[in-house]
Amino acid sequence: MNVNKIRLIHFRNFWDVSLDFHSSLNVFIGNNAQGKTNIIESIYTLLRGASYRSKDDCNLINWKEKKSYLLGEVRKDNKECFQINILIQNIDQQDHLSPKTKKVIKVNKKYQKKSWLLQRFNPVIFTPEDLQIVKSSPTVRRKFLDEVIINLNPIYDQYLKDYNRILFQRNILLKNEKKVGNLIKQLSIWDEKIVELGTLIILYRIKTLQLLNQKVKSLHQMMTENKETLKLKYNSNVLTSFTEDKEEISRILKQKINNAQGRDFKLKVTTVGPHRDDYFIINNKIDLGIYGSQGQQRTAVLALKMAELEILQEKENEYPPLLLDDVMSELDLERRRFLMQLIIEKPMQTFITNINPDDLTQLKSIKDSKVFRVRNGQVEGNEQ
Ligand SMILES: Nc1ncnc2c1ncn2[C@@H]1O[C@H](COP(=O)(O)OP(=O)(O)O)[C@@H](O)[C@H]1O
Ligand SMILES: [Mg+2]
Repeated sequence: MNVNKIRLIHFRNFWDVSLDFHSSLNVFIGNNAQGKTNIIESIYTLLRGASYRSKDDCNLINWKEKKSYLLGEVRKDNKECFQINILIQNIDQQDHLSPKTKKVIKVNKKYQKKSWLLQRFNPVIFTPEDLQIVKSSPTVRRKFLDEVIINLNPIYDQYLKDYNRILFQRNILLKNEKKVGNLIKQLSIWDEKIVELGTLIILYRIKTLQLLNQKVKSLHQMMTENKETLKLKYNSNVLTSFTEDKEEISRILKQKINNAQGRDFKLKVTTVGPHRDDYFIINNKIDLGIYGSQGQQRTAVLALKMAELEILQEKENEYPPLLLDDVMSELDLERRRFLMQLIIEKPMQTFITNINPDDLTQLKSIKDSKVFRVRNGQVEGNEQ
């Protein structure tokens, strides 16, 4: 899959910039705060209908403007071509206090929902924030796993959103309802939904962790010369032993939620459910999150990201685009070499920012590439 071109109009610090990408390697160079990350973000947003780093679409619009356009051309399987057109617009509310953002997505001139994009395009993005996956909070680990699941099963995005919405309502109820009788009655309505959606989420997580495990083990062994073995272990808030039996998961979740009712009333928050899930990242039986060195933790993250790429390649029969923002400069020599090898060997379109001059020279000597110089919202591109 390739992003052939993109045009950014009033997107972040860009006024109106058109970029023709190389089908192999695209490198963005320039000083800090010039717009390199914004370009990576624009490519991601074009393919996914939303940014990875800002929940609020209004942040994508240039500060001086009220609307922003992203126009792009994407090719799949070397044949199907899609013209994607995304409009993000601020609509002033009557009170002028809370601007609302409207988003319109068109593909080949037809209106489409974000889910249309999610079902077709799944870029793999790797940023310094990902380097924290191992040692960071469960939220960050869940986000990585959930992204892999959404890429594989776009419907999961909806399950997750619905679950979080219902969870939010349930927590509001726990906070506000003072009469226990009323609370119990109302909770029974929410809990049915929580169990239904929660079961699906747990099931997808179990299956996807297994899939990641199959891939990650060999990738990680390759990176550690067979000295270390990496394994992901589901640390479920609900299950103690793992089953793929939906009825069984549902039964246990229901029971645990019922048993936690007293605690939930007291703490005024939902204490049981997949929103509290986590997974251990284990290397030779050691929990890397607690005992891993920074090098081991980063090797594990690299293996995880590579596994994500391989899983998506198998699903689509072609590599997704790889977006690397600022990660090269964060890795030491050994791990950079693995990433370089990956970029060189795999037939995938790659977008990289912040790469050191030696690595760039090496990459350019092996791979066809285009280097873009980004300066204060202006971009110059040269084919190499
Ligand atoms: N909505 C926006 N409108 C205008 N400028 C923005 C907007 N969002 C971010 N910027 C600016 O874009 C600049 C470039 O950011 P970035 O792409 O992160 O730089 P870098 O080249 O270091 O990756 C920053 O100076 C930031 O203030
Ligand atoms: Mg940046």
